Amino acid sequence: MKRNLFVMASLAWVISITCVASIFAEEIKLSLLPKPQVDGGRPLMQVLKERSSSRSFSSEKLSAQVLSNLLWAAFGINRPDTGKRTAPSAVNWQEIDIYVATADGLYLYEAKSQTLKLILSDDIRALTGRQDYVREAPVNLIYVADFSKMGTAPKEDKELYSAADTGFISQNVYLYCASERLATVVRGSIDKQALAKTMKLRPDQKIILAQSVGYPKK
Ligand SMILES: Cc1cc2nc3c(=O)[nH]c(=O)nc-3n(C[C@H](O)[C@H](O)[C@H](O)COP(=O)(O)O)c2cc1C
Repeated sequence: MKRNLFVMASLAWVISITCVASIFAEEIKLSLLPKPQVDGGRPLMQVLKERSSSRSFSSEKLSAQVLSNLLWAAFGINRPDTGKRTAPSAVNWQEIDIYVATADGLYLYEAKSQTLKLILSDDIRALTGRQDYVREAPVNLIYVADFSKMGTAPKEDKELYSAADTGFISQNVYLYCASERLATVVRGSIDKQALAKTMKLRPDQKIILAQSVGYPKK
């Protein structure tokens, strides 16, 4: 009898721990970013004077606030009444998804809720480009076009527009980085097939470019 009670109590404990763990796992799958600070930054003409590519990164991480500001500048919602974004997109398809590769894992930026959704808990930074510095940059953004959001447009149009739309987002990142004195470089040199496989992308999701961001190496 005593033994049965012990077994039942142990079982109840294991079940409750499992429930807590899965609730916790759900929680960490979606992390809310701090509200983006949208009233700062240096004057536009000064920022344009300083915009440049840099390939030398310190390993210092970006704070959650800086990451939130960066992603909002990149492709956040700047007109909540219409859901429109800081960068234009053909037909307002908003087909570019920004994946964020950090030492802690791979996340998907969700602009509506200003959250990061955990996709993989592995550090895949080294896979986001063919150059050595990509493994040191604390953040590598991966711009992925979701062709399923582009209606029945011919494939050539989907390719052209998603490349153009990525360019606007990338330039927003360049300008934010110049404003905050962060280092950045946009990159096309990527083993796209290997990266898409690791990211478990669908066939109608296409990697367009990646962009490394971090503090400059001192
Ligand atoms: C579409 C595109 C792809 C690029 N791919 C790479 C790349 O794979 N690796 C890299 O180090 N720089 C890459 N760059 C950065 C360019 O080399 C850089 O913009 C150019 O040298 C001009 O320098 P600036 O950005 O400082 O004006 C790319 C730029 C663009 C626009």
